[in-house]
Amino acid sequence: MSDLANRFATQFGPPGPAYLISAPGRVNLIGEHIDYAGLPVLPVAVQRQVRVLVRPRADRTVRVANCDPAFPPRTFAITNDIDPFPVGDWGNYIKAAVQHVEQRYGPIGGFDALVDSALPVAAGLSSSSALVIATGLTALAVSRRDAPALELAEGLALAEQYVGTRGGGMDQAISLGAREGAAAKIEFAPLHLTYVPVPHEWRFVVASSLVAAEKSGAVQEAYNNRRRDVESALALLVGDVVRWPGIESYRDVVSLPAVEIDAAISSIADETLRRRFRHVVREGARVLAAEQAMRRSDLEAFGELMCASHVSLRDDFEVSRAELNEMVDIAMEAGAAGARLTGAGFGGCIVALSDRGTAPDVVTALRKRYYASRSVPDDLDNLLFVTEPSGGASVSAL
Ligand code: GLA
Repeated sequence: MSDLANRFATQFGPPGPAYLISAPGRVNLIGEHIDYAGLPVLPVAVQRQVRVLVRPRADRTVRVANCDPAFPPRTFAITNDIDPFPVGDWGNYIKAAVQHVEQRYGPIGGFDALVDSALPVAAGLSSSSALVIATGLTALAVSRRDAPALELAEGLALAEQYVGTRGGGMDQAISLGAREGAAAKIEFAPLHLTYVPVPHEWRFVVASSLVAAEKSGAVQEAYNNRRRDVESALALLVGDVVRWPGIESYRDVVSLPAVEIDAAISSIADETLRRRFRHVVREGARVLAAEQAMRRSDLEAFGELMCASHVSLRDDFEVSRAELNEMVDIAMEAGAAGARLTGAGFGGCIVALSDRGTAPDVVTALRKRYYASRSVPDDLDNLLFVTEPSGGASVSAL
């Protein structure tokens, strides 16, 4: 902390910061690419966070600096309608959150903020949503405003679409709402979190493929295309009221009897849309089964569901890559109960489930068989680690 305080002083001069805000990243255990279809997901927060030191300003200017030199300082004025920086600029995550808080809870005051992140960027661990949550809390704190957590998470999820990616609401909800030692089953519209204790013996190994998947960059179009496919597939059923009366959402689809769900899948003539649709409805069912498996500490069943999720993401949803498939195989051969890509895909991380005894074997196998032959950054500890489900975002007055 004193290192960070020194950097704050160097960047902004006296007086010192008034708040420390932190927000964790997440690893999604199961339920991928279905939050934007309104179906439940099951992530945990990781013990790696974005931390922000903040000092209120007397005017309506925001100045932000980042300890990572890849992200240069940014300055802008708070208005009700803030023009974005160029696409891909990290400052847009700050603007997204500030504009939302201004519109919903404003008028708010300006601030100087220093951002320090222990979350690898573009690794599928939601460093960007953690930054959005931390910034939203910052804007509220400096303005001495308060907002109900779920309302804020829901609002900031929509607000993040400012950067151009039509993301769902999972990442913001878990970053704000996580509880130590538990996964959260997150339901949408309205947002609701149900906490599921993670059994003591379970270990989740998170491992980066080293392939960057930047949500506001290269992956944006592919991500938005998947979401459009998911919406187009549903629209076919919604438009056919004679065959599918009462179907308006994916929630309606997954509550049909099993034979009807199968019929709904087969009714989609376009092969790509049929596969996207099949992924969504089957993944939705896997999340509910996984929640039950976790509640009865059934490691094997949970692991099988994770593997089925990976296969579906690879074949039906087409968001995997050779590197992620290779890592899943390595983890399984080393004794994991299950493994899958996590996050949006196209790169980023896998998550593997094992018990306390075998987790070190999974880590060792990945080191030897995946990382040894690649050029790995110095901070491999932030790219390959065993997660402890951690708590959500916090604000401390200094
Ligand atoms: C990204 C989005 C989330 C979710 C995942 C895929 O992380 O931000 O809303 O859609 O991809 O499950």
